[in-house]
Amino acid sequence: MAREPLRPVLYDAARDLVRLLDQRRLPAEEVWLELDGPDAVAQAIRDLAVRGAPAIGVAAAYGLAVAARRGAGPAELRRAADRLGRARPTAVNLAWAVRRMSRRIEAAADADALLAEAHAIRDEDEASCRRIGALGAPLLPPQARVLTHCNAGALATAGYGTALGIVRAAVESGNALSVFADETRPFLQGARLTAWELQRDGIPVTLLTDGMAGWLMARGEIGCVVVGADRIAANGDVANKIGTYALAVLAAHHHLPFYVAAPWSTVDLETPTGADIPIEERVGDEVLLVAGQRIAPAGVPARYPAFDVTPEALVTAVVTERGVVRRPYAEGLRALAGGA
Ligand code: MRU
Repeated sequence: MAREPLRPVLYDAARDLVRLLDQRRLPAEEVWLELDGPDAVAQAIRDLAVRGAPAIGVAAAYGLAVAARRGAGPAELRRAADRLGRARPTAVNLAWAVRRMSRRIEAAADADALLAEAHAIRDEDEASCRRIGALGAPLLPPQARVLTHCNAGALATAGYGTALGIVRAAVESGNALSVFADETRPFLQGARLTAWELQRDGIPVTLLTDGMAGWLMARGEIGCVVVGADRIAANGDVANKIGTYALAVLAAHHHLPFYVAAPWSTVDLETPTGADIPIEERVGDEVLLVAGQRIAPAGVPARYPAFDVTPEALVTAVVTERGVVRRPYAEGLRALAGGA
């Protein structure tokens, strides 16, 4: 029996609440948070209860809509938009969604119009993911062995996913593919989230620790890499979860395609290159503690850059809902933007 589509961000119309599937608790339990305003949503974004570039944009949009529905005026909404937009720095979808809502606030839109805008952001994102899937699925050969990193699935979007949208669409078109999921230290998006949502859909998935991909590539066990993105600069450089860059280098060394899947809202033509993308640095304790247990001697510090940048030269193609782009990316992306 087909399962309900997975949608991690919902709006509760009866109670004017944002409902988020708490991604910190998966796969052990499915707990829904009920948030009554933008500050609670901003906190959930910072704490990774909701994560994934498009999903945090959708959550922020609903946070503002809920505030308006509960009587916040334009000045309060402006301040809330500012706080939400700064909750995490790397994924441009967050700033993009907040900007979209802010334009409506500045145009004196009422609460219903703000809610309609949030619904539109959500619906457009899911439609984009489905189109990315349709455009990307033919890139995967029959019985593809696909490596993915982090979670760029339904849980990271309004629904369906970007990288996992391509996987889903390929499976729906009859491709008997299988997926290797990197566990993705330290938050374990691959182990906890990607493995969970693929298993839920009956798509074969095998877990790897983050250091295993090179050896499996050398043995011919991986056919291609498909990942999502948090921001794609104008020159095609891609910011994504820490560890993505290493996979791109490995894929190039083994002559394997390295595909990036992202909605157009992830493309940031205002940011010239990857060097201009702000990379979130989280606290080292998130690396030092595993399930509440300290894994290194007391006093040893840890670093946690949460994202890295893959140079465009290592990217085989970028799949967006507007089309599939290959090098040179600067021209290809400008053309899709309608600027060339
Ligand atoms: O720190 P996270 O879990 O928010 O990082 C998520 C990623 O890096 C995803 O690959 C990216 O946001 C694409 S989601 C469709």
